[in-house]
Amino acid sequence: MRGGAPLRGTRIAALGTYVPPRVLTNADLEKMVDTSNEWILQRTGIHERHIVDDGVATSDLAKEAALRAIDEAGLTPDDMGVIVVGTTTPDMFFPSTACLVQNKIGASNAWGFDVGAACSGFAYALTVGSQLVATGAHEHALVIGADVMSSIIDYEDRATCVLFGDGAGAVVVSPAAEPELGLLDFVHEIDGSGGPALNMPAGGSRNPATHETVDKRMHFVHQDGAAVFKFAVRKMEDVCRRVLERNGLEAGDVDLFVAHQANRRIILSTADRLGLDRSRVVLNIDRFGNTTAATIPLALQDARADGRLKEGDRVLLAAVGAGFTVGAVLLRWAC
Ligand code: ACO
Repeated sequence: MRGGAPLRGTRIAALGTYVPPRVLTNADLEKMVDTSNEWILQRTGIHERHIVDDGVATSDLAKEAALRAIDEAGLTPDDMGVIVVGTTTPDMFFPSTACLVQNKIGASNAWGFDVGAACSGFAYALTVGSQLVATGAHEHALVIGADVMSSIIDYEDRATCVLFGDGAGAVVVSPAAEPELGLLDFVHEIDGSGGPALNMPAGGSRNPATHETVDKRMHFVHQDGAAVFKFAVRKMEDVCRRVLERNGLEAGDVDLFVAHQANRRIILSTADRLGLDRSRVVLNIDRFGNTTAATIPLALQDARADGRLKEGDRVLLAAVGAGFTVGAVLLRWAC
């Protein structure tokens, strides 16, 4: 993988996902806020999303996904050298979700940490985990994207509550048997000027929790949807173009485009601008909504289940999230 000093190639060796069983449909939301199934479907592409029951937290979902990935890899939790968790909804400020997952799965040889990159969380965590394997520091990295967005969504705000869901995805990153198969390259960027467009204003050191912050609903996601939409389309196209160009590739060389599932229109607009055939685009936002750090592994899993993701396929991952954070990861599937 370029972008650092690669000593060896890396690959996604296994993939596991988990969503909580409870489903929140557009029809359910119609009873909660002034919205309609037609509006949600047309503006976002979302039909339903999975939501945790009370008391279930991000590390619970992450644990299930992690165990599935480790099992598929034919490894044990003790084989993991590092755990990197992309999440915006950690169980609590500290300990990190990586620590909680390490304890839950019994990964007695792993260190780890969380990556805060919002909707780009999985892409960033994948790059970090991969680099730690590429340098030879670790044989296997457990990379997780997991979020319980329902814990920070205002179910009285129709502009945001229809968008998000809960879920988790995990991959095991291991050395690649062949250097041309596996993780090839990445482009990541941050643009902090986008902070006001999407954030949770209270709960941190700027606005610690008070009765007033709770009364003002400051512990929920606040978003300028149109600003995020425009930035997402422009920057996803930009980073995708750059990662393709510097690898001598064109849109037609991409077998599968797996973008963060925030909005069907964002994904298709990006694909169109890149000149990617829509048949190469993975869309599963209809069933899961925006699960933040979990969308990309959930989409990879569905593409694999549908027979659309095969060994050797050139896959382009792309994400934009709060911050703003931006990422594109290019790989050849070798799982
Ligand atoms: N039901 C019905 N009407 C609604 C709803 C709803 N759930 N939500 C908003 N509206 C209304 C608005 O009030 C507005 O009404 P008005 O014209 O009377 O003021 C109207 O619909 C249009 O609102 P817009 O904000 O212009 O709608 P837009 O087409 O931009 O769609 C959306 C809104 C879906 C939020 C879109 O902007 C979007 O997806 N933005 C990206 C946000 C995102 O995905 N963020 C996730 C995290 S970041 C990331 O993942 C990239």
